[in-house]
Amino acid sequence: MDRAPFSAAVREQLGDSGWLDRSEIDAALVDFRGVFTGEAVGMARPASTDEVAEVVRLCIEHDVAIVTQGGNTGLSGGAIPTDTVTADERPRIIVSLTRMREVEDMNIARGTITAQAGVTIEELQQRAADVDRLFAPDWGARGTATLGGAVSTNAGGINVVKHGNMREHVLGLEVVLADGRVWDGLRSLPKDNSGFDLKQLFISGEGTIGIVTRAVVRIHPRPALQRIAFVALESLGTLNDLMAMARTTSPGALSAIELIPEVGVKQVVERFGVQRPLDSAAEWYVLIRFDSMQDGVDGGDRVDDDLTELLASAVSAHLITDGVVAATDAQEANLWLMRDELTATRSFGGFGVKYDLAIPPDRIAEFIGRAESLVDGIVPGALSFAFGHVGDGNLHFTVLTPDRDDALLERAAPELLGSLDQLVWEFDGTISAEHGLGRELRERIAGQKSDVELDLMRSIKRALDPDERFNPGVMLPGRHS
Ligand code: LAC
Ligand code: ZN
Repeated sequence: MDRAPFSAAVREQLGDSGWLDRSEIDAALVDFRGVFTGEAVGMARPASTDEVAEVVRLCIEHDVAIVTQGGNTGLSGGAIPTDTVTADERPRIIVSLTRMREVEDMNIARGTITAQAGVTIEELQQRAADVDRLFAPDWGARGTATLGGAVSTNAGGINVVKHGNMREHVLGLEVVLADGRVWDGLRSLPKDNSGFDLKQLFISGEGTIGIVTRAVVRIHPRPALQRIAFVALESLGTLNDLMAMARTTSPGALSAIELIPEVGVKQVVERFGVQRPLDSAAEWYVLIRFDSMQDGVDGGDRVDDDLTELLASAVSAHLITDGVVAATDAQEANLWLMRDELTATRSFGGFGVKYDLAIPPDRIAEFIGRAESLVDGIVPGALSFAFGHVGDGNLHFTVLTPDRDDALLERAAPELLGSLDQLVWEFDGTISAEHGLGRELRERIAGQKSDVELDLMRSIKRALDPDERFNPGVMLPGRHS
């Protein structure tokens, strides 16, 4: 195809800042870990919903496919086009929503923010904090990840244990559809049983059935105070009892509970200047945060007392061997830096087999034990590195070779992935908890879902995107029609 008329048409509608040629978009054609690479003929950068709709109409006219991209912080390749475009395939473009970054409305009485899709998670957090409210979704990439991407992957993070995923935060959506029409579902009703709850399809739709352009999201009262503790587990076997104790010691206070392995602490201490929080080393640690909704000395004292009591009870019950409550902002920041940087497994070097799995939370210790021995049986000496949101049963599980023998791990990857997938399913789990399917899990997910379920998913794709214009090669196994 001669691409000049298409890009000229986009430029004409969106202006010069609305189109970037192929030579200007290298950074958008690879994910931040460098795992997924792709090709596209250029990038449209619409500045409004109308412009997004105009781009979709031009793509219909010129038979071009669309990969929507937000902050490009995804971990499953859902925002990176596939590598090659064969002669019989249509060309594709990236539609970046990062110019649409207005916070349009803050409604404190309703507890909502209405914003465009390109606003970052951090900005939403900041805007909510400015009016003494909490926008709860939070994870390491908060400064770059966008609202639209978070909605489209139903992103999770460290606050899910108390406030839920993106799905629990979205009250309304505006979406540009595959035929170029705009669905205005920007309602802000906590209750609405007026037929199919269509927004749920676009939340976690990974850009395969529509382009999310605006959303109404919930904000919550902001905790007056938060305190974090870092504890060393007696053994992984005590995790369940510790989680139960953390929930009951101060009902409603638990707002984050993260499992952290010594192998992770060692890495972030060496590489990111994180201070070791405890003198003694253990194999596993847990980061626990309590919220206090009460203001003033009373609330502050209570949350301190509750956390201190939790630590004392957990030591007496032989659940933990040691623990510390962060006493200063710097100590707190150090603990969160440690947690955030665990994500950067790429900086551990080399190739890794990575999982974002979820299983019933009470079976985590059992699962890790089984997974470690399975890995060891396939690649003796490999390093199993598990961390994450244990309150939700969500583990980020990565297999690495300590000597960075990428070739060895790459050879073993098919067997590792096959066996670990089966293990997750044996535990009634999912191989995708909060990162989506993207390109990474597109085929493997077929093993997790019945034909009926896959059929239903394909029917939805066919109904909403019959020409497969949106995000080809993402999410659904095989062809959709
Ligand atoms: C995290 C990302 C990997 O929890 O989801 O760090
Ligand atoms: Zn996570």
